[in-house]
Amino acid sequence: MSEQLRPQVDLLAEEHIQCPYTLYQRLHKECGVGDDPAVGTLIVGYDAIVDLAKNTAQYSSSITEDEHGPRHMGVGSDPVQDDVEEILSHAHPIVNALFTADPPVHTRHRKLISKALSPRSVRALEPQIREVCHALIDSFVGNPQVDLLNEFAIPLPVTVIADILGVDRADMWTFKHWGDLMISGNIDVLSHEKRRDVARAVVDLHNYFVPRIEQRRITPTDDLLSEMVNAQIDGEPALTTEELLPIIDQILLAGHETTTNLIGNGMLVLLNDPALMTRLKQQPEDIPAMVEEVLRWDAPIQCTYRRATAEGSINGVPIAKGSMVIPAWAGANWDPKAFENPEIFDIDRPTGKTHMGFGYGPHFCAGAELARLEARIAFETLLERLTDFSLDREASDLTRIASFAAQGYTRVIMNFSART
Ligand code: HEM
Repeated sequence: MSEQLRPQVDLLAEEHIQCPYTLYQRLHKECGVGDDPAVGTLIVGYDAIVDLAKNTAQYSSSITEDEHGPRHMGVGSDPVQDDVEEILSHAHPIVNALFTADPPVHTRHRKLISKALSPRSVRALEPQIREVCHALIDSFVGNPQVDLLNEFAIPLPVTVIADILGVDRADMWTFKHWGDLMISGNIDVLSHEKRRDVARAVVDLHNYFVPRIEQRRITPTDDLLSEMVNAQIDGEPALTTEELLPIIDQILLAGHETTTNLIGNGMLVLLNDPALMTRLKQQPEDIPAMVEEVLRWDAPIQCTYRRATAEGSINGVPIAKGSMVIPAWAGANWDPKAFENPEIFDIDRPTGKTHMGFGYGPHFCAGAELARLEARIAFETLLERLTDFSLDREASDLTRIASFAAQGYTRVIMNFSART
């Protein structure tokens, strides 16, 4: 295979982290595949990703397993040091679940959590989410500026996910801290010390949730955790604690930073496009279309991973058994064969192919309806209560967060006036 047919990419290069879209544009002109020997094979073509996502037998989601069995979220797949192993021996046993499971196990998990995260259950959260948004705005509306991420876009999903999982609000920042540690383990190459911290977070999280799971089996409450603990659909037995713990980890990991960055990335689009900002103030019914276009154009999750279970090929590029394959959902969103002029942000795009900001296929984001609802209410309340927005470029830091798998800004400081 010539180098031209198998372009080499360095996914950890700062230029790609700061702007992955230039890389996707280049790969779309070549064979739609880029190879990073240290990380895996990146796939950016829309149709190739559709095939890959459906082919769960060949491209497995069980990516964190070693000879000890499935690993906890964030611990990483490199050999685990003895002292880290000792800390993890205090964690509750887990199994591959949901995000790291393949059919038929995945199908069962998805079915059992579907009611808890169904559009109906999620819609019922609207008043609660609106109340959280208003309370956050109340806390800074008297100031001339807001640190959008720290004062609004971070606490919003942290509060919502804590409520869903029945975490006391007093504990929610500890809970966020565990999530951040686990995310860093998924994104960064961990130092030995940091890996110990991640392992401790896993044990603390289990110590926190195991009694709460058991309690809800005996006395269900009205939170979504109770629904997940007790769901029994189509004669399937309820999820076990071993299954629920990794699912809770995944909701914790998937539900925070993603939604924060959806709000942050969307606000940057509006700050750079005053006409669109005015249109959404006048026609808030267009906010959902704007949110969908942010998910296409600047998606918070750029890619995830699969492990090739057998030799194969994608777009003529050979894929070795055991190698990592990386579906770049955000790359598919910039495929000119799927979206005309993909580089243009256009909330009036003709309906055609659906974006892959929430993935595609059996693992399509389980929290998509929740994320959409949070983002819609976030923009509705911000535009309803505040006006005269402008970015304080000096005080902001628009460097992208240090990950090629996620896209978000470091600090967004925004001037505004309160609407009377
Ligand atoms: C803007 C916000 C979000 C984005 C961009 C996003 C993106 C994604 C993507 C791309 C996947 C597919 C992963 C794959 O196939 O490898 C996924 C899966 C998942 N997401 Fe989200 N997500 C968001 C919010 C949420 C929220 C709020 C929750 C929690 C309620 C959540 C829970 C999950 C879970 C549990 C999965 C795994 C589903 C499965 O394996 O069947 N996500 N998400």
